[in-house]
Amino acid sequence: MSEFSDIIVNAMNIANVSEIAEIGAEYGGMTSILADYVEANDGHLYSIDPAPKREFLDWVAAHKKVTHIAKPSLDAFAKLKNIDLWLVDGDHNWFTVYHELKAIEEASTRDKKPFFAIMHDVCWPAAHRDMYYAPDAIPDEYRHNYCMDSGAKPGQSGLLREQGMRGMGHFGWALHEGGERNGVKCAVVDFINEAEANGRAMAYAEIPAVFGLGILFDVDAPWAGQLSDLLVPFHDNPLIAKLEQNRLANYLTVLDWQDGAIG
Ligand SMILES: C[S@@+](CC[C@H](N)C(=O)[O-])C[C@H]1O[C@@H](n2cnc3c(N)ncnc32)[C@H](O)[C@@H]1O
Repeated sequence: MSEFSDIIVNAMNIANVSEIAEIGAEYGGMTSILADYVEANDGHLYSIDPAPKREFLDWVAAHKKVTHIAKPSLDAFAKLKNIDLWLVDGDHNWFTVYHELKAIEEASTRDKKPFFAIMHDVCWPAAHRDMYYAPDAIPDEYRHNYCMDSGAKPGQSGLLREQGMRGMGHFGWALHEGGERNGVKCAVVDFINEAEANGRAMAYAEIPAVFGLGILFDVDAPWAGQLSDLLVPFHDNPLIAKLEQNRLANYLTVLDWQDGAIG
């Protein structure tokens, strides 16, 4: 997510963000950028990840403005109050992301804050295919059939055994792409449609680079116009989308070479 840091920091300045919740820290690449921001703005960062890397744990121990919550996101919301911005980059499946957005909506309404969330992985490969870090944590009725060692390639609904983009045992993919309640973008669209049906008008911008960044906020937030001015040039930009297609093709070619060299 740190590839988007310039845009995210500009957005945080526009919205005068102070308290931030980050879902999914891993090595802490984005966390350190958010930490610099809250240190300069007298804010606080809550970083939620049940299983971050050792490097993050060592780093967070030395940072007073950052609190690590070692829980899955949906168990952590009760601890989080008065959050101005939520970064969503944890478990990339419909059940988790949809319920994260619902919990963010509830928290922002309770705390009288505008809804403001930034989600990673809204484009391929997780846009319309569930990814599971912890498949057992997803209720059976929401979990698609999945595989922990097969990989995804663009344009193919099925998975390929030991080929393509895959989790090597760390995470699994749903066996098929598309359909109902499948993937991060699907969760975002379902959430927006429900919010709008309930009278909450949302603005959504999508930057089609590095697996996709989605920025979702209340249309009537006091800073919505200024934030829109920042995001419009990036939103659904066809040149950026072409560059991402090319990046993915190169990346998958390297994976094919590696798989050939290993196999
Ligand atoms: C893609 S990485 C996050 C990368 C990070 N945001 C960055 O920009 O460098 C996903 C992280 O989400 C964590 N994770 C998985 N399930 C989660 C959940 N339910 N709640 C919070 N974090 C979760 C994983 O442990 C992993 O470290």
